[in-house]
Amino acid sequence: MEFVDGRFFDHFMDPRNVGRIEDPDGTGAAGDPSCGDWLLVTIRVERGKIGEIRFLCRGCSSAIATSSAMTELAAGKSLEEALAITASEIEGAVGGLPEEKKHCSLLGEEALKNAVADYLARREKGRPGP
Ligand code: FES
Repeated sequence: MEFVDGRFFDHFMDPRNVGRIEDPDGTGAAGDPSCGDWLLVTIRVERGKIGEIRFLCRGCSSAIATSSAMTELAAGKSLEEALAITASEIEGAVGGLPEEKKHCSLLGEEALKNAVADYLARREKGRPGP
């Protein structure tokens, strides 16, 4: 398959929401042991929604492009909506990936889910007892 979707190159050449939020409400990481690529996602939660999201990726071009697309999909979403974002939805946002690169979009799904789970766990811990 020839792979020339402009959305992919746009996200790869000009990735959105790169960086790390200082003192985030939630942090999630994901890695692929088969290639060594790695993704860190930090979120700020405002009124039950993803108010801010940033990512740092040490990985291939597909991991960078899909991580960028994932942050655009997640920004402004409720936590439930963010948890429902799938790797194939993320892949679709960059116009698809070649078969051998499809796994790269999993990093974004996993790291986002882990960041939301971290936020929920911290909130649970911070709750006063009965
Ligand atoms: Fe490892 Fe793309 S090759 S995430």
